Amino acid sequence: MGKIVGLVNQKGGAGKSSLTNAFSHELCRRGYRVLVVDYDPQGTQTMLFGFNRLSEFADGEHDIRRIFSGEEVKPVEIDDNLHLIPSNQGLREEAESGRMGKELVLSNFLRGGFGKKGLSEEYDFVLIDSPADSGALTVGTIAASDYILIPTRLTFVDSTGLVGTLQTVIQAVMTFRLELSILGFIPVAYKPRLKEHNDVLNSLKQTIPDILSRYDFIKVASQELFFEPIKDRIAWAEAAGKRVSIREYIEKEKKAQRDILLTLENITDEILRRVLIHSEITV
Ligand SMILES: Nc1ncnc2c1ncn2[C@@H]1O[C@H](COP(=O)(O)OP(=O)(O)O)[C@@H](O)[C@H]1O
Ligand SMILES: [Mg+2]
Repeated sequence: MGKIVGLVNQKGGAGKSSLTNAFSHELCRRGYRVLVVDYDPQGTQTMLFGFNRLSEFADGEHDIRRIFSGEEVKPVEIDDNLHLIPSNQGLREEAESGRMGKELVLSNFLRGGFGKKGLSEEYDFVLIDSPADSGALTVGTIAASDYILIPTRLTFVDSTGLVGTLQTVIQAVMTFRLELSILGFIPVAYKPRLKEHNDVLNSLKQTIPDILSRYDFIKVASQELFFEPIKDRIAWAEAAGKRVSIREYIEKEKKAQRDILLTLENITDEILRRVLIHSEITV
C-alpha cells in the first residue's frame, strides 16, 4: 500500500497547495507512482495542474463526491506516474452535511476495507491537499493519512494558527484512534534577514516539541521536526500563475533560481528518509 501523506494547516497561504504540487512532481521524477487528491473545494491544486474550470469534472467518473456514496472515482492522468483526483465545489456541502462518518470517507476510499481494495494500493505515494480550516475535510485528510506534513509561514499570526492545527491533529488521533505520524514542519516563504521570521522559527522549535511531549500517543517520524526552510520567492506565485510546476518554471525560465530546486530536493530526500526508514519515535 502506498504511503499516504496529508498536508494540513488551518491557515490559508501556508504553502499546502504549492508544496503538494511541488512534491508530487519531485517524487514522480524519482520514479515513484504518485496520486494527488485535491480535497479542498476551492480547487487550487486542480488549477495548479492546469485545469482552469472545476466544472470540467463536475459530474462523471472523476467526480470526487462519488466517494461519499461508496463509488469509485477515476483519477485524471497528468503523466504516466502522476495522477490527480480533482476537486469539486460540492465537497463543501458534503463536508457540512450530517452524514455519519463523513470524516472517514476518504480513508475508506484510499485504504479500502470490507473486501474492497483501496486506491492507494496502486501508488507509492498519495499526497492530500486540504482546505484552510479545521472542518470535516481537514479532519478527513488527517484520518486518511499515514503521515502529516505541516507547512507554515513564519509570522506571529501564523504561529498561533499552528497550535490550532496541531490541536486538530491531536483531537483527530484521539477520536479516531489513528496510527499516523507527524512527518514534520516545513517553514515556507522564509526571509533569513527578517527578525520576526527567525524569532518565530526559534520559538516554534521550542514550543512544538513541548506541546507534542504532552501527548505520548502522538508519534513523530523524526526527532528533528523541522525541515529546511523554503525561502520567500516570487517564482512560486509566477509558476502557479502559469500553471506549471515550480521545477518546470525554473528550469525553463528562471535558471538563476536553481537554489529553490536544491532546497526541494533536500526536503524530498529527507521526507523519503523519514518515511522509508520508518523510525517512528515519540518526542
Ligand atoms: N516559498 C514561497 N515564497 C513565496 N511565496 C510562496 C512560497 N510558497 C508558496 N507561495 C505563495 O503563497 C501563496 C499561498 O500558497 P498556497 O500553497 O496556495 O497555500 P495554501 O494552500 O496553504 O493556502 C501562493 O500565492 C503561493 O504561490
Ligand atoms: Mg491550498
